[in-house]
Amino acid sequence: MYSTAVLGCAWGDEAKAKIVDVLAKDANYIVRFQGGNNAGHTIKLKENKYVFHLVPSGILYPEKMCLIGSGVVIDPFQLLAEMDNLKAQGISFENRFFIDPRAQIVLPLHRELDGKAESSDSKTKIGTTKRGIGPCYADAIARYGIRFGDLYDKEYLQERLENIFKFHNYPNSEIDDVLNELILISEKLKPFIKQIPYLLNDATDKNILFEGAQGALLDVTFGTYPFVTSSHTLSGGIAIGAGFGKKVDRIVGVFKSYYTRVGNGPFPTELKDETGDKIRIRGNEFGSTTGRPRRCGWFDAVAAKYAAMLNGIDEIALTLLDVLSGFETLKICTGYKIKDITTNEFPSISKTLEHVVPQYIELPGWKEDITGITAINKLPMTALNYIAKVEELIGKKVTIVSVGPERGQTIFK
Ligand code: GDP
Ligand code: IMO
Ligand code: MG
Repeated sequence: MYSTAVLGCAWGDEAKAKIVDVLAKDANYIVRFQGGNNAGHTIKLKENKYVFHLVPSGILYPEKMCLIGSGVVIDPFQLLAEMDNLKAQGISFENRFFIDPRAQIVLPLHRELDGKAESSDSKTKIGTTKRGIGPCYADAIARYGIRFGDLYDKEYLQERLENIFKFHNYPNSEIDDVLNELILISEKLKPFIKQIPYLLNDATDKNILFEGAQGALLDVTFGTYPFVTSSHTLSGGIAIGAGFGKKVDRIVGVFKSYYTRVGNGPFPTELKDETGDKIRIRGNEFGSTTGRPRRCGWFDAVAAKYAAMLNGIDEIALTLLDVLSGFETLKICTGYKIKDITTNEFPSISKTLEHVVPQYIELPGWKEDITGITAINKLPMTALNYIAKVEELIGKKVTIVSVGPERGQTIFK
């Protein structure tokens, strides 16, 4: 058995799916272990663009097994819609797509609660994807949640629905509709339920690839709380979200060559000027799930080193390097000034992070279009310098450089 994890090391959208797609070639199982359909994972294959929300990105390879672990929260209506959409494009799920019965169900009431919280004008409005993710995880922890396995015992499901409806002061009169809809959908999903921990831990002759969603800085504990998602996005989340009891052999941290963030919360290197606009347009930085413009900024080595440490990464995949072509100079943040003190520790409190003054180094840029380059030594010297600086600041080697959205636009270093 050999296991690899591909984990976002910023605020999500680091092009994890592109890296998963490249590495899935050598994997037998591709596994999601946290998050839900707040994720938007894009793969571009020639003229086709696929955006995955719940289905692991490996499904594009016809022979791979794709698994959803217990740590994922699943909106079953959205999952079916996503599967139907992929089936219409010729992708088959039979005997190679499985969901752990422990995975929590995102109910319509979770979506409603998320929407309500987000429509208030409170100062701590998160800017969520409004997919019901936070309320669903909250109920899971409070033990009001409904899990996939519960769908197959009507009486018990009714009991669980009564319990959660009561907790949220929802009228009992709505239970029947939800119950009937869930039963209808559960029949369609029945062939796909399987205990994932046994599947994974018994896979002695298989290669397993864990596909992270979101990123380290959105982790519910170590991210920029409360402006985070509600799951454990770090490598530690694999054990609890997939029931994988072994050490992951290879942890690939995915870093964008610049930083982006969707939703609210501190972002020290954010560029609210035409440089930020230029990055947004060149990088097509609009959310894959909600279509919102992504906030853009310079590479933040303080945040990067923190994410690398938390995930225990072995190597770096540096993505979207092509977007940085055409800048006279490029900046990298190497420290935060807080009052009179410069630190390279990532603050634990968001309020502190909001007020740091990023300290930058400047590096020469490059003019060349690099989207067609496939060998590392063909990159402009200044791009190689940029990569070397990222390696030096994080303290790990860059092994994969992505210079475009296509599978082939990948340089192995
Ligand atoms: P994920 O959520 O981490 O999987 O990332 P997203 O799919 O949300 O966003 C990454 C976007 O960048 C997608 O539109 C990809 O097609 C695109 N992309 C991936 N790698 C590259 C790259 O190296 N260069 C460019 N220009 N685009 C890329
Ligand atoms: P992928 O997997 C970028 C952000 C939201 C919001 C915060 C909380 O594509 O990288 P939530 O709906 O999870 O309660 O929202 O987290 N967010 C993401 N940002 N990429 C994602 O996923 C995200 N999933 C959630 O914008 O700021
Ligand atoms: Mg995304």
